[in-house]
Amino acid sequence: MKRIKLPVHIAFIMDGNGRWAKRRFRPRGYGHKMGVQNMFKICSHAFDLGVRIVTVYALSTENLSRPKEEVDELFDLFRTFFGKKKDKMQEMGVKINVVGDITVLPPDIQESILEMMDETSHLVRGLLNICINYGSRQEIIRAVNAAVSYGRFVDEQSFSSLLETGGIPDPDLIIRTGGELRLSNFLLYQAAYSELYFSGKMWPEFSKRDLEKAIENYSARDRRFGNVQEE
Ligand code: IPE
Ligand code: IPE
Ligand code: MG
Repeated sequence: MKRIKLPVHIAFIMDGNGRWAKRRFRPRGYGHKMGVQNMFKICSHAFDLGVRIVTVYALSTENLSRPKEEVDELFDLFRTFFGKKKDKMQEMGVKINVVGDITVLPPDIQESILEMMDETSHLVRGLLNICINYGSRQEIIRAVNAAVSYGRFVDEQSFSSLLETGGIPDPDLIIRTGGELRLSNFLLYQAAYSELYFSGKMWPEFSKRDLEKAIENYSARDRRFGNVQEE
């Protein structure tokens, strides 16, 4: 990859698992399985390139309304991911942080999530945020209610700290695969000045080279943050 300006924080909307599987005449669950494998590959590559923070949208609050069979398959994947694949996660050498309301998950998965967060809490190569049962509007409403219950007015800084991503810098680059041009309730507040990149590739087929292309594209952009361009 040529010399480039690297984003500190990349967030992925990993969309397209179901369509990818359907095109191969396979069940949606197979797409999710391959999607998880690709998540390891792409996140590892991002950290290898020097990205410090990666956030992945694994399950939205709205996704829980999908047919029970699919939700159960997703839960099973989380079970494997946070349980059996634990070592593989730890090999990445990054701290794992789960964002979202995990209390809806089966108790054994909640436990293994907490264990993984605990066991990786000392790792400093980077930070991987995994969003599970995450919804940005719900997150914002919870933060507003917290502020109300403290009886305090908020400013940008104190409000940010009440969000589930409190303390984590906003994403510089948000990459959505699967061809849809929307945020689907992901990091609405945090994305105020994020650069957006949309790929027509389905998530399981999004490659290391595709990631590099997205970063190269980001690198060539001029982030003005509402200001005038520097000469
Ligand atoms: C994204 O893939 C993964 C989850 C939402 C869990 P989809 O399951 O949305 O795949 P498509 O968009 O139907 O192809
Ligand atoms: C967004 O994908 C959520 C995740 C990738 C986890 P969806 O497939 O749920 O989004 P919509 O329904 O196309 O907006
Ligand atoms: Mg989708």
